This record gives sequence, structure tokens and C-alpha cells, in this order.
Amino acid sequence: MIRKAELHVHLEGTATPLLVRQMAEKNGAELDPTTFASDGEYRWSDFWDFLKCYDKAASAIRSRSDYQLVTYDYLRRASEEGCIYVETFSSPDHAASVGISYEDHLLGIADGIDQARDEFGIEGRIIVTCVRHLGPESALNVAQQVLDTPHPYVVGFGMGGDEAQFHPKDFAPAFNLVAESGLPTTNHAGEFGGPDSIRATLDYLPVSRLGHGVRSIEDNDLVAHLAKIKIPLELCPGSNVSTGLYASVSEHPFNQLKNAGCIVTLSSDDPPFFHTSIGKEYDQTAAVFGYTDEDMKNITRNSIQAAFCEDSLKEKLLKLV
Ligand code: HPA
Ligand code: ZN
Repeated sequence: MIRKAELHVHLEGTATPLLVRQMAEKNGAELDPTTFASDGEYRWSDFWDFLKCYDKAASAIRSRSDYQLVTYDYLRRASEEGCIYVETFSSPDHAASVGISYEDHLLGIADGIDQARDEFGIEGRIIVTCVRHLGPESALNVAQQVLDTPHPYVVGFGMGGDEAQFHPKDFAPAFNLVAESGLPTTNHAGEFGGPDSIRATLDYLPVSRLGHGVRSIEDNDLVAHLAKIKIPLELCPGSNVSTGLYASVSEHPFNQLKNAGCIVTLSSDDPPFFHTSIGKEYDQTAAVFGYTDEDMKNITRNSIQAAFCEDSLKEKLLKLV
């Protein structure tokens, strides 16, 4: 099996509908019935509705041990598909909305990483994220928590949520605070926003990677610039197809961006919401674009080189590829 590495996956977004229902039942947490369709899968219509569905499902996660379970369960599934490294986005705002402290949410995820490493050998790290549509003040608050409670598994800072809200410069105080402490950052840009959203991110935020960045394809000069500055793109074709950005993986610009010299990586984003997995992403991308095993290994190598973890771990992972 091809060894895989994943840089862009939202932790709450990895929880399967089954796991969410089990946690809700255990916690006596009432789940909004509109969370699921009649077949038991997550129900949402467009990206904005997806964000709402995500919040409803995430509300079932109620404790440090729940965070451990969600993390462990995802790393187990990823490992079964040949994944050796996952950098997952944590969201302290989601934890706080159900009364879980920053520390408990973080330690639960770390527990899950430790348990999965012990049992499956897979390695994990955390990128703490803020939620763009909650605004710059919330973002700054999350950034401050990252600094106040350092943890060896927290290797970066990022931002997800609704790209249409606010301007990247509004989040410069949060991103700069974290960057000045030495942690690298990434931002969702060029998913639902166009090339201007990517340019604004590069102009105002100290990012070392781009979440998606896929819509750079609409601007040739921007693609050339991204290739020149070698900023890795966290591409998630299955997610983009699922949310309606592209009609099919064959219409996804993954191959065009790769051929243009951009550093491409491959991730699943929110796998059960998008009916995908890291294994499926690798299989589909290889099949659709005719990539060889060596091509796919090079994508894994890109991801490991672009990872925010320590160099000694990267060297160890690269040897496994
Ligand atoms: N995109 C943006 N924000 C998100 C996502 C996503 O796929 N998942 C959770 N928050
Ligand atoms: Zn994402």
C-alpha cells in the first residue's frame, strides 16, 4: 500500500455519523434531528449548510475523553488506509461552545494521538484553528490560548470557516501573534473565495501553506507566483467536488496545478461529510489523472516536507515512504 500523509482534515469533521450518535447518546446530548438524512448520513445542501451541519454534529463531543475517541477513531481508519501522518485541525471554539476548556480539548486530542501511535504506529500533530465567521476577536482569543498553553503536538495555527466573511487583514493580529512565537500558519483561501482571497491572504497573513488555494487556477499569474514561492497547497479534490466547486475529480485542477510547478498535497478535509477518506482521495486522484505509484509517493513526500512537525519526525516519515 502507498504510504500517505494528510495535512488538511478538520477533527470534528472526521467523526462518523455513527460515532456522533453514540457520543450523543452516551452524553445525553440532544442532537438536532436535521443533522442526519433518512439513511443516517449527514444531511446538508451547500457549503454554508455544511458548516451548520458540522456544528450540529460537533456538539455531540462533550469531554476530553470524547476528543480522545474522535481522534483515535480517525487515526485508526487513516492508518488502515496506509496513512502514516495526520496533521489535524482542532477547533477550541467548538469545544468551548459545549463547555470544554482549551486544555481539556487539547489533552483529549493528544491522548488520542498517543493511543493511535501505540496501537497502529501512525503519527499525529495538531493545528489549532479559529473560525473565520466568528470574527477577529475570537480568532485573537484562540491565538492567545495557543501561546498560553503550549503543547509539543501543537505545530501550527490556522483558520477555517466562511471565507466570505471579513478580510484576511482583520485576522493579522491573531496570525502575527502566533507567528511571532515561532509557529507556522495556514489559512483556508481560494476555496469559496477566488484568486483575490488568496492574494489578500499572502499580502496580510504570515502563512506557510494555503488551505485549498485551488481557485488560484482562475489566475495564471497567481499560479505562477505560487509555484515560484513554493507555497504548498492543501488540495482536497473530493471535498471540492462534494461542495459543488467542480463537477467531478477529472474537472478538478489538481493536475494543472501540479504541472504548473505548484507544490501539491492531498487531503480529505471532512471525510464522512464528503463521503471520502484519505485512501479514496489517493485512489481517485491516481485513477483520474493516471498517476503512477511513484507520482503518489511524491505527493506523500510533498506533504511530509510541507508538514509543520519537527524535522526529525519528517526524516523518519520520509524513510517510510
Ligand atoms: N472548509 C472551511 N471551513 C471548515 C471546513 C471546510 O471544509 N470544515 C470545517 N470548517
Ligand atoms: Zn478545510
